[in-house]
Amino acid sequence: MFPVVTAGDVINISGCFERSVMTWIDLGNPAPKSEWDRYDLFQWETGQLQRLTVGSSPPSPAILDLLRQRRTKRQFWPLSDIELSDFFWHACRCREAWPSEMGFDLEHRAAPSAGAIHPIHVVINRPGNAQWWLYEPHGHFLVELPTATSLFSGLRSHSQTVLDAPDATRLLLLAEPGKTLAKYSDGCSLVWRDAGALLGVMALTAEGLGLSFCPLGITGEPWASSLAKQGKLMGVGLALLGSASGTSVR
Ligand SMILES: Cc1cc2nc3c(=O)[nH]c(=O)nc-3n(C[C@H](O)[C@H](O)[C@H](O)COP(=O)(O)O)c2cc1C
Repeated sequence: MFPVVTAGDVINISGCFERSVMTWIDLGNPAPKSEWDRYDLFQWETGQLQRLTVGSSPPSPAILDLLRQRRTKRQFWPLSDIELSDFFWHACRCREAWPSEMGFDLEHRAAPSAGAIHPIHVVINRPGNAQWWLYEPHGHFLVELPTATSLFSGLRSHSQTVLDAPDATRLLLLAEPGKTLAKYSDGCSLVWRDAGALLGVMALTAEGLGLSFCPLGITGEPWASSLAKQGKLMGVGLALLGSASGTSVR
């Protein structure tokens, strides 16, 4: 158990051993605000659009078998368009949306999200290609983010140094924290927990579809937030996704 701490944003906790000092950042205790704020969503600058196919339902193990089988896999081959479509269809698409007083819709997706707000966007970069694409969970399509090509080139090479996987598709989890903070005071930890929940769902989806998946410990910063001049976006994680064999590109 950690000692109970009450003050300060950054807390140094000395453990039993002299040399072990842990820094724990206190993100506060989230609570719904008495009156929710209105929030203006980030306005994306977009380019080309790529429609994805409706997800197929390949035979997959039952969820309890998946939980038993799931392993991080670090060998990647290029994904086929169908594999990528299936992954997004099952892990990320919006299944139901309804309006809120905060200026954006609340949603049901496969992953749970605090307040049904879903503040995390998924932006992808395919192997051997400098373009980055935003997954649009309402219409199930990808839309190019032209400015990200140069802004995120350093992120491509940085993630490559973390795990050498030239044939993997990079998934950047790009949060729009203002959505969650419109409803919750001290809501930053909710965004991080949403990122963890999403990674878990992605990992199980990849396992169910027979794909390779590996989360990375880096957040995507400082590149991720540079996309939004208004300071509305923040990187909350990266993951690698790929085909588990070299024969499936269609
Ligand atoms: C938040 C998080 C960050 C991770 N970062 C990395 C990473 O940077 N590089 C890597 O090879 N694996 C990374 N992993 C994968 C873990 O190393 C892996 O889950 C762990 O070794 C247990 O193996 P398993 O997933 O097969 O059970 C990460 C996992 C999580 C949840």
